[in-house]
Amino acid sequence: MKTNIELLAFRRFFKLISIGLWLFVLYIPAFSQQPTQNTSFKPGGEWLADDGVHIDCHGGNIIFVESLKTFFWYGEHRGRPQGASCYSSTDLYNWKNEGVVIEKGDIQTFERPKVIYDENNDRYVMWFHYDGNGYTIAELGVAVSDNPTGPFKVIDHYRPNGHESRDIGMYFDPDTKKAYIGYAADHTNLTIRIVELSEDYLSITTNDVDIKAHCEGPGILKKNNTFYLLTSQCSGWTPNPGTYYTAPDIMGPYTSQGSPFIGDAGNNSFNSQPCFIFKIPGYRDAYLYMGDRWNGGGRPESQYVFLPITITAEGKMELHWYREWDLSMFTPERRRSGRRNRVTIPSNSRNRGNNDTRDSNR
Ligand code: GAL
Repeated sequence: MKTNIELLAFRRFFKLISIGLWLFVLYIPAFSQQPTQNTSFKPGGEWLADDGVHIDCHGGNIIFVESLKTFFWYGEHRGRPQGASCYSSTDLYNWKNEGVVIEKGDIQTFERPKVIYDENNDRYVMWFHYDGNGYTIAELGVAVSDNPTGPFKVIDHYRPNGHESRDIGMYFDPDTKKAYIGYAADHTNLTIRIVELSEDYLSITTNDVDIKAHCEGPGILKKNNTFYLLTSQCSGWTPNPGTYYTAPDIMGPYTSQGSPFIGDAGNNSFNSQPCFIFKIPGYRDAYLYMGDRWNGGGRPESQYVFLPITITAEGKMELHWYREWDLSMFTPERRRSGRRNRVTIPSNSRNRGNNDTRDSNR
């Protein structure tokens, strides 16, 4: 009898343990994949997406699709499979991994994808640097998709109007709805050319000029009818001091204005290389600098340096270093009061150690 009771107790105990184990197994994902909720940008740091993995989306750009109220960030997927990845967000801090939207397949070098949304045809057009392992093919590639999250399909690749093309940037003019590609061009990137795209953004036009700007990673913004072009020099994966140029027209003439990186003690654009300037909707003059911290090579774990760009009252472009910052630095567009027409910097949020090379180069 005693043995039967013991057996019953043992069975109940075993059942409880099994239920406990099942519950534990079922809840493991909930414990290990808690998405990190970000409330700020932390330039140069690890940046986890919703899947708990560092964002792998380099040398790219961000678009905002009004009808979907969503930001899409495209860039090089340096992990496997290589190609371009896409992440989506509603606040620019927290990103959902939408996966690889185009695999590079047999394209040897696939870099710096830039996507533009064609509202008229409700489709997404991706331009990218198409090249061989030795960077001697030097072409533009173009791909298209009906969905922001792909799949994108390559439709063509060529040298624009016969010119070599390597690093590319893209500018969409909200006033004219025209789009342009700035490309590091002939003689191994000794100059930048700007080419206007066709109305459907699927091809290039012959409006293509040498703007005599040196030389890579071009990002463009427009403020008060002045165009600002931010570029790096040519030193491969190693960062160098950036330069900005101004022009009265997207096609030039451009005038060199020196480095906009203020307090850049490492003289290396806060240890980054520009890839795009994103005008953040909903805020006045809110320009987001998107830079890559390659750390000697494009790798999945390479970081991002996202910083606010200020155009001062005197019309100068400035970037200051912040260890951490958020969008409250900008003035929301609806608050059209007498506030100054420039980025508002709360005194407590700026990292005053701009000269802290250890921090900006970390
Ligand atoms: C950089 C360029 C990168 C990549 C690299 C290869 O100058 O900006 O996109 O092409 O060279 O060395």
